[in-house]
Amino acid sequence: MDPETVRRVMARFFEEMRDVLVRHGGTVEKYIGDAVMAVFGIPKLHEDDALRALRAAADMRSALTWLNEDLQRTVGVSITTRTGVSTGEVLVSDAATGPAIVGDAVNVAARLQQAAAPGEILLERETYRLVRDFVSVDEASSLVLKGKRLPVTAYRLMGIATVDELPRRADPPLVGRSRELRDLRAVFDLAVTDRACRLLMVIGSAGAGKSRLATEFVEGIDSEAVAVWGRCLPYGDGITFWPVAEAVRQLAGIDVDDPLEIARSKLQALLREAEGSAALFDRVAAATGLADVKAGMEETFWAIRRFLEQISRGRPLVLIFDDLQWAEPAFLDLLDHLLRSCRDAPIFLLCLARGDLLEERSEWAARVPNATMLHLPPLGDVETGHLIDELLQGDDLDGGLRRRIAERGSGNPLFLVEMIKMLRDDGLFAATGTDGPGATKEITASTVPPTIHALVGARLDRLSPEERAVVHGAAVIGKVFSWGALLDLVPDELRSKVGPILQGLVRRELIAPDHSAFVGEDAFAFHHILTQEAAYGQTSKESRGELHVRFASWLERESGDRIGENEEILAYHLEQASRYRTELGHSDGGTLALIDRASATLASVGRRALARGDMSAAANLLTRAYDLLPAEGASRLTLVPELGQVLVETGEISRAEKMLADAVDRAKESGDRGLEAHVRIVSLLMKEFTDPEHRSEEALGTLGSVIPVLEDLGDDLGLARAYRLLGDVHFARSRYADADGAFEQAIEHARKAGAQYEEAESLRLYAGSGLYGPAPADEVMRRCERIREVARGNPTAEAGAIRSMGVLNAMRGRIEEGRELVRTSAQLLQDHGLTMRATFVSEAMGFIETLAGDHAAAERALRAAHDEVSRLGDLGYQSTAAALLAHTICAQGRYQEAERFCAIAEEIGAEDDLATQVLWRSAKAKVLSAGGEHEAAAALARAAVTLAEGTDDTNMHADTLMDLAAVLSATGDSAERVEAIRRARDLYVRKGNVVSAGVAERLEKETL
Ligand SMILES: Nc1ncnc2c1ncn2[C@@H]1O[C@H](COP(=O)(O)OP(=O)(O)O)[C@@H](O)[C@H]1O
Ligand SMILES: [Mg+2]
Repeated sequence: MDPETVRRVMARFFEEMRDVLVRHGGTVEKYIGDAVMAVFGIPKLHEDDALRALRAAADMRSALTWLNEDLQRTVGVSITTRTGVSTGEVLVSDAATGPAIVGDAVNVAARLQQAAAPGEILLERETYRLVRDFVSVDEASSLVLKGKRLPVTAYRLMGIATVDELPRRADPPLVGRSRELRDLRAVFDLAVTDRACRLLMVIGSAGAGKSRLATEFVEGIDSEAVAVWGRCLPYGDGITFWPVAEAVRQLAGIDVDDPLEIARSKLQALLREAEGSAALFDRVAAATGLADVKAGMEETFWAIRRFLEQISRGRPLVLIFDDLQWAEPAFLDLLDHLLRSCRDAPIFLLCLARGDLLEERSEWAARVPNATMLHLPPLGDVETGHLIDELLQGDDLDGGLRRRIAERGSGNPLFLVEMIKMLRDDGLFAATGTDGPGATKEITASTVPPTIHALVGARLDRLSPEERAVVHGAAVIGKVFSWGALLDLVPDELRSKVGPILQGLVRRELIAPDHSAFVGEDAFAFHHILTQEAAYGQTSKESRGELHVRFASWLERESGDRIGENEEILAYHLEQASRYRTELGHSDGGTLALIDRASATLASVGRRALARGDMSAAANLLTRAYDLLPAEGASRLTLVPELGQVLVETGEISRAEKMLADAVDRAKESGDRGLEAHVRIVSLLMKEFTDPEHRSEEALGTLGSVIPVLEDLGDDLGLARAYRLLGDVHFARSRYADADGAFEQAIEHARKAGAQYEEAESLRLYAGSGLYGPAPADEVMRRCERIREVARGNPTAEAGAIRSMGVLNAMRGRIEEGRELVRTSAQLLQDHGLTMRATFVSEAMGFIETLAGDHAAAERALRAAHDEVSRLGDLGYQSTAAALLAHTICAQGRYQEAERFCAIAEEIGAEDDLATQVLWRSAKAKVLSAGGEHEAAAALARAAVTLAEGTDDTNMHADTLMDLAAVLSATGDSAERVEAIRRARDLYVRKGNVVSAGVAERLEKETL
């Protein structure tokens, strides 16, 4: 290798290794050739230097894996290391006068290093003695080391305990709650004996003791079940699967610093025996952020369910989801899905939430099956007294003060715990000891803070400025934070003191060692989230902004190729940083760049949500990405096409409309032709819902000019949207064969562009054009089956295909199957927050019920659809629904009422919406005929037929002929009548509508 390259490679290697060593508190003594020699405990001795050295060694090994991946890629080499660790006395001399550190320990370490196999870390007996409670080792055979008379026993390092395995902080013993524990136990037992999924929701205010209750329960069932925790995050908007990801990582034993490949292989190992495990693995990995597979929500739900079922087969599974009041709607849907669909799987979902959950998600709470609610009451007077006694640990407390605390605490254990801790902070109980500050006098009953919030704040106020700087940095990271990250968030001069400060904070029980998010690193958690919130509230906006950026950079760097798991978190921190800077009026280049980065990250996460059909998360994330960008800037516009569509999907039509109208103007001004094309297409696509009148002419005009521009630009996404619009316009004009052609193009371009949402939308429409158009039922059935396959769980496309299949089944006489499929389709959409689309499905139900001859049922379905769309303000669909409704009402003989709906359809139906134009006429014809106006009725029915002939909606065409026949029976024109029936029958037969063909045939026979 070129010496220049070698030097560069070695420099990087040294740099990376040095970083790790420093992070663990070591010092690089020197570089000897290609070796690094580092010492711990010099100049300052720590009680855990040996452990630090081993942690550093292990971390260097993982850091090297990363480095090697990079080196392989860039220069085609990789580095292997061997490590030796030894402990002993050394002589330290001034570096200027010769070798700085000498001693037997140095020699032994060097020899161990030489004896180690590549990648191995060897330690000798003395080091092992110091760390044996924290590490696992293999005894390598005794080594005869050069320069040593006796063989030295070497140990091969296998693993290091994480912080959660270190001794736990002493919580006060549990007071009361035996009834609640029995309740938890009962539901758990039920899950086990029924081998079923059961949920228990513990509801209580902050500090009521929900988490503690769950912890106690878990300890009590230790050997009977596997228990894992997942937390919903307070800023979790859009972070749908985070709690699941946490649980999956714990189940698979995935460490935060595992390289992606290792993390994946751990998950793989867990799934090895599962049937269909490849598909399962992909989707669980995607939900955990360990793979970038595109999967729809339905599929993701399916995979998570199968995964959990699998895990619980061996041993009952307890999943604790904490802080459920912050869960995304789709996460709650997942719980619902698990409860409904898990089979033969003892799974106990223990959910903890504040009361807000029931208010904000009352609909969910009401519908979720197999769930028990447990309201966690405040501690009673006696229990409060016990808890205070426990917390006092024999210390005395003035009677008045004690009463005051009990009163203010009103049974909230957190209040009591924090209050007594504060008294300890203040030295109240040290007064009898040797070094008591004697501050006792000042503490009187009146100093008891009025609320838990005030109390938590008062405790923080007692910290030193340095401690507070550390706490403030930590609070920006979150309830759980890692030491490594924190180092990047404190002022430089504080870095070396972070360790001792954290230890002090642990002693004061403001924080405690934790393991939930960052396993390999030393991590801590605030004792309670209120403490974190209070600390966050104390920092200035200026410094919050700064700290959020620093944490984002740390997170990005440390996540490496596992950024997928953390991208939402990253987006959140960048967003917060941008917010604060903007609020403070910063507008420098750095701030603008930060805003761009924040917005781009939010948008990227939002697009992932969109691709999996998680509309509420997508709307949330894309809106945040949009809002962040300056209103005048051009970059905001690029988000409009996607955001506009998402808002339509979530039913926020007027907001979408405003945004798009504005964007069209701005895009024109900007002169960016590609962007202009996109915005215009999307706003035309949306016009179907808001302003259907003249849409198709305008669209055809626009498409004529923008398609060539997009082709010039090679913009597949633009073309996918353009052809979808074209298909949509043909669709609206009931030209289904043309629509088929356009959708085929759209699907192709979307696939090339990798645009999941576009592809799914066109597939969905393609399922619809097949159903209505001239394509025979058998062929369309096959098309829909194919669509279901390629849609791979995308709810809109899948639901579209299922809906069409339902109607096709009904046409062949399998009414019940048809109903079932249509119901499934609606449910699928509803589950994904696609309210508007779910409504459209009712039209299919109306069609099926009409085929079944149940006009009342058809009316119910269509009326629900009509009312819903008129509420949503979708004129395009309302007009058609009104006309269809008029038909079902006619069929029940209520002609006056039917006429009203004919009038609505006539009034709001767009001229080029041919279906509406045909349908209201044929319905009105029946109304007229019933009123004895036979001539006018026949004329209108004939007009409807003529219009229908201009479409290729086969069923509608035939239905209209049948209506004409009905109207003509009163005028006695039997030749025209017979002809109409015969033509209708032909059309039905050609389409494969067996049921209606049968009706026509019977009528034909009767007439002859
Ligand atoms: N029944 C109890 N007995 C003793 N200590 C309790 C009890 N309930 C809660 N605590 C303590 O009160 C504090 C707050 O409880 P926690 O479970 O974190 O509240 P929540 O999760 O409801 O917000 C913790 O320090 C916890 O150990
Ligand atoms: Mg809690």
